[in-house]
Amino acid sequence: MKMKLFSAVLLLVTILLVYPVQIRAADANSPPAKDANTTSAKELKPIELPKPQMEGGKPLMQALKDRKTSREFSSEKLPMQVLSNMLWAANGINRPDGKHTAPTAKNMQEIDVYVALEQGLYLYDAKENKLIGVLAQDLREATGKQPFVKDAPVNLVFVADYAKMGNTPDDQKNFYAATDTCYVSQNVYLYCASEGLATVVRGMVDKPACSAAMKLRADQKIILAQTVGYPKK
Ligand SMILES: Cc1cc2nc3c(=O)[nH]c(=O)nc-3n(C[C@H](O)[C@H](O)[C@H](O)COP(=O)(O)O)c2cc1C
Repeated sequence: MKMKLFSAVLLLVTILLVYPVQIRAADANSPPAKDANTTSAKELKPIELPKPQMEGGKPLMQALKDRKTSREFSSEKLPMQVLSNMLWAANGINRPDGKHTAPTAKNMQEIDVYVALEQGLYLYDAKENKLIGVLAQDLREATGKQPFVKDAPVNLVFVADYAKMGNTPDDQKNFYAATDTCYVSQNVYLYCASEGLATVVRGMVDKPACSAAMKLRADQKIILAQTVGYPKK
């Protein structure tokens, strides 16, 4: 009888000791709890941009005179109207046939403009004039190697979608993707010169790390990034 009681107590103690360990092990294997920085695109609402203003700004020759690279940014956010105008200048649609402010070889329209803001990563949808939510994560720091990128309000990432380049030979894909990106970048430079914004185009990007952070497909290639913001006072 004493022996049976002892065995029952031993069994109970063993269960009490082992069960919590199993629970902890199961917790370790389950996916990490979601926090504000790891929510999915579904939870990052799209941003409807205000209609871009195509009037005003400096005359072209004056904008060219003022175009320059700046690397000192205020952390002040850009108003939505300014963001919309800048993205339209960069690569918006400027004709009824759906063509853009920047030219592309063979009209392949392969350059996508990603927009890294504090609240998340977005893709500029020129047709709908909105920002599509991609990742609810602040990826500004991942878009470059220079210290100002993490605090500047906007970092653009120019991504060539090789899937849109048909059967163009690979060396030409690389050449066209690079040249087509530079037109978009120069449009941003000229808009910034016109509006008194600071900007720098950047080749210094850890592309594998940035692609991974942005969860890009293998045939989406980061070409350049560009920081935009108000000049530091
Ligand atoms: C393709 C390309 C890549 C560049 N990459 C960087 C960069 O990674 N970081 C940076 O601070 N400036 C970068 N720049 C900016 C140049 O340093 C800048 O344009 C140059 O110094 C001339 O200055 P300006 O633009 O004021 O005429 C880049 C410019 C180009 C065209």
